[in-house]
Amino acid sequence: LDYFNYKNGEAFCEDVSLTSLASQYDTPLYVYSKATLLRHCKNLLDAFKDYPTLACFAVKANSNISYLSEIFKCGFGADIVSIGELERALNAGCDPKKIVYSGVGKKPEDLEQALNRGILSFNVESAFELDLVEQIAAKKNVAANISLRINPNIDAKTNPKISTGLNTTKFGLSENIIEAMLIDIKKRQHLRLTGLACHIGSQMIGLGPVKAAAQRLVFWAKKALALGLPLENIDMGGGLGIRYDSENPPELADYARTLICEVKPTNLKLLIEPGRVIAGNTGVLLSKVIGVKATPEKNFLVIDAAMTELLRPAMYAAFHDILPVKAARIGKKNSRTFDVVGPVCETSDLLGEGRSFENPAAGDLVYVRGAGAYGFSMSSNYNTRPRVAEVMVDGSKATLIRRREKLADLWREEIF
Ligand code: LLP
Repeated sequence: LDYFNYKNGEAFCEDVSLTSLASQYDTPLYVYSKATLLRHCKNLLDAFKDYPTLACFAVKANSNISYLSEIFKCGFGADIVSIGELERALNAGCDPKKIVYSGVGKKPEDLEQALNRGILSFNVESAFELDLVEQIAAKKNVAANISLRINPNIDAKTNPKISTGLNTTKFGLSENIIEAMLIDIKKRQHLRLTGLACHIGSQMIGLGPVKAAAQRLVFWAKKALALGLPLENIDMGGGLGIRYDSENPPELADYARTLICEVKPTNLKLLIEPGRVIAGNTGVLLSKVIGVKATPEKNFLVIDAAMTELLRPAMYAAFHDILPVKAARIGKKNSRTFDVVGPVCETSDLLGEGRSFENPAAGDLVYVRGAGAYGFSMSSNYNTRPRVAEVMVDGSKATLIRRREKLADLWREEIF
């Protein structure tokens, strides 16, 4: 459920009309609903309230600092994958003791900075990373908290481009080396194995793979505990899917029950790293129709938002609903269909294929739903397009949380 609805024939975000936001802040524009965000945070925490759980928001899904700070105020920690995300999370008020650091390619200087910041855990994804963390901790004469990110070779049954749990991907540690690693870590005085982790994929629609992955982690947790390692938590990653079109993702309660049921016998704390399920439906991308054109084959709605603002359709063939701000323009049974495209010079700059609208015209506003996760955070300056503004709506109040870039910003670092 979200707070983007039609009132009096016009689309609103909470109590603010998208038309008024477009006139005040121009388009393209990212618009977030604070009520939706807080609701999603609460629903997630409620689902896990009966078991000791730390939810670490996957900062990559939406990394705007004002946006993040709302999530951290609810008690969330952060799952980060870069020093940039670490510093964003800290700027947004995240407790460093609630930060887990994932990623296959952490550089020595990244590890050192994160260690200095006192994060909760490094989710180690390779044997070389284990050595690097140890060297850096030894230099500081401390013991670094680490988790082993296990790759359980489980098919998450999602788009292959966002599947991470198979041994054919670069992520995590294969199970065939885990036992030897556990024994080895015991001997390393600058490493404390406090957790086991996994993340098998994103936009998962079934709980089968989630359960199977939890079982593998629990299997290894028992081994680690039997070896006397100081294990404290099991980090099940993120990945829960949302509805963009007609998907039927699991209920949060069922997701929570599945994880808790597996982890409970170990008595270990549960960590999760949700991104999309929190952020996806909190935001829309608001855009203006530049013009309507037709070829002998197709009708095109050319809008001012493009793959530079929302990469998901071009990159994953992802579906996002695209609706007109004026309800009267909503496609009817016999309305024409349009490919909704942006101005970028790529055939793949196609935000939606074959969408129905009633007599659309230049100047109309449309909005792309489900753009709160992996929307702005994946945006780029390709075609020398300034990145767009972001606005957070709270009831009848809209707050600018990121200014639109100016052209000169785009070549500020160039030397000429
Ligand atoms: N934890 C780790 C280690 C991750 O790599 C990810 C996402 C998450 C948590 C959060 O997953 P979520 O709950 O959001 O599914 N750009 C793609 C998604 C890539 C996800 C990468 N990792 C998209 O737009 O669909």
